[in-house]
Amino acid sequence: MCGIVGYLGPKNPKDVILTGLKSLEYRGYDSAGVSILHEGKFKRVRAEGKLGNLSAKLDGEAFSGHLGIGHTRWATHGKPSERNAHPHCVGGISLVHNGIIENYMELREELVRDGAVLESETDSELVAHLIEREVRAGGDRAAAGNGAAAGVSSALLAAVLRILPRLHGAYAILVVSEREPDTMVAFKNGPPLILGVGPDAMYVGSDVMALVPYTKKVVYLDDGEVVEVKGRSYRVLDHSGATIQKKLVEVNWTADVASKGGFPHFMVKEIFEQPRAVAQAIQPHVNLQKSSVELSGVGFDVDQVLAGIERVFIVACGSSYYTGLVGEYMIERLAKVPVECDIASEFRYRHPVLPKNSLFISISQSGETADTLAAVRMAKQAGAKILSICNVKNSSIDREADGHLYMNAGTEIGVASTKAFSATLALLNLLSLAVAKAKGVLSAEDEAKYVREVLAAPAQIETVLNLDKFFKQAADKLKSYKGFLYLGRGVHYPIAMEGALKLKELAYMHAEGYAAGEMKHGPLALIDDKMAVVTLVPHDDLYEKTLSNLEEAKARGGQIISIGTGESERLEKISQYYLALPEVGWFTLPLLEVVPVQLLAYHVACSLGHDVDQPRNLAKSVTVE
Ligand code: M6R
Repeated sequence: MCGIVGYLGPKNPKDVILTGLKSLEYRGYDSAGVSILHEGKFKRVRAEGKLGNLSAKLDGEAFSGHLGIGHTRWATHGKPSERNAHPHCVGGISLVHNGIIENYMELREELVRDGAVLESETDSELVAHLIEREVRAGGDRAAAGNGAAAGVSSALLAAVLRILPRLHGAYAILVVSEREPDTMVAFKNGPPLILGVGPDAMYVGSDVMALVPYTKKVVYLDDGEVVEVKGRSYRVLDHSGATIQKKLVEVNWTADVASKGGFPHFMVKEIFEQPRAVAQAIQPHVNLQKSSVELSGVGFDVDQVLAGIERVFIVACGSSYYTGLVGEYMIERLAKVPVECDIASEFRYRHPVLPKNSLFISISQSGETADTLAAVRMAKQAGAKILSICNVKNSSIDREADGHLYMNAGTEIGVASTKAFSATLALLNLLSLAVAKAKGVLSAEDEAKYVREVLAAPAQIETVLNLDKFFKQAADKLKSYKGFLYLGRGVHYPIAMEGALKLKELAYMHAEGYAAGEMKHGPLALIDDKMAVVTLVPHDDLYEKTLSNLEEAKARGGQIISIGTGESERLEKISQYYLALPEVGWFTLPLLEVVPVQLLAYHVACSLGHDVDQPRNLAKSVTVE
């Protein structure tokens, strides 16, 4: 998390950095700051809270220099405050950091022993001190005729190379020095860092989005790499100072200025974009004439790989993990291949066994989630084939994977995932059909039936979006409940969990997603007349059983909000609120069910006055463990 921007060029650094930070605010928004050269010295301006506070402080501030760095923070060490905001400035060095320095205590003690005066509670400031100390020591060495490593003319770069072995943990760091006003040095291990190469200026950013308004030519830095920018040139080095040849990539992103398109928030705009997101996700992979699945552009021979797999692993975090659980149901049911779906932070430490011929599917909207990335690397080392489902081309996970399915959902700005969720579900629909087909267990007739169901989903989601008014009106009542239980069975259970997560992250209310049949094993004790029970009860073979679970909750005072399919007198009778979705089968129903649970959370959060696009304590891209 945290967003980094650096600029060296003829324009006004303040404008370039602020524009860049605006597009990176999704990475963290508890404080922000810039450090820009002015009359030979760094002028630092920082502000607690959203970027707007920093922009206001920078109004009327002028800078004469052409080098500057900026940062938007998601706090790890040290509370969100101006004092802990980046950049950290020590003796002419200015530094911004994204990540966590794990040996922070040891470094802190050493620096304090050495006389360093620490201004903040952050781990990041320690790196600025380490570099500054090395720059000073390098100067002394040079005075004694004992200079830097061969080929390293920049004192800043030499200092960075010397301190690198001292840093343990995850970091993307950009550092500049008053003594070298034509130089930026950036290095990474874990979180993303990208160099932008413009015709007359150089840029550094945490995300291509911060660079594309200025240049489409970028270099993706890999772990263990250091880039030195000097004037209009750059070179990438390893930790020993040896040059690494890197590819200059031309990205085709457009700098579409994020607009709410008439909606009050990005989140609700993105909820309403779901029909299009689903259509765009499936479009490349469906043969409309034959109503068949033809996964295209994956990057490996899909039919051959899928035919040979004996086990599937799906690994992801948060909402992406819930899509994975739906995928697990679909693949096992249709393709009869065993599937394990795991939370990435558990998978990576549980010593999993990946048998030969395993397909490892990673799901990540951002493609940067640190735990998912680590799990991908583990699986790759274990010899599994990696298939990434991702929204951001060229993101870290995308670059590690052997094969790719793109969500094509368009940029998702709201921190709460919505359209990427549905786009992923639709891709998993198609992927499960593709696995079943490759395994020879899906008839052409069934394939055509399921494909037609997926093709019908965008229009059906459109009709479900009409429920918006319903939750808007109900929000005032709903926000008075003390807690929410979300229930579902089978493929609907992960959607119940997604509903609970949405309410937690947006409304800051306690909510839990539970398998409806598990209620009697404990959670039933929570039920009273202040507890809302949101239940997914489609007309399927488990309808009667779920209805009985609801009766049990109702008998104990629970306030029932049920989401079913078509008319149901019995459900209506026991429910405070009953919502009828179109009567569609199990395969695509999750695509419809997720819409009302998103709208419920959105409207309750709005009526509580919360910032739904940037909920407290969260960030869109989670690049720390
Ligand atoms: O970018 P990813 O899909 O890897 O992100 C995973 C989670 O951090 C993400 O889904 C998170 O749970 C969202 N805030 C959910 O709305």
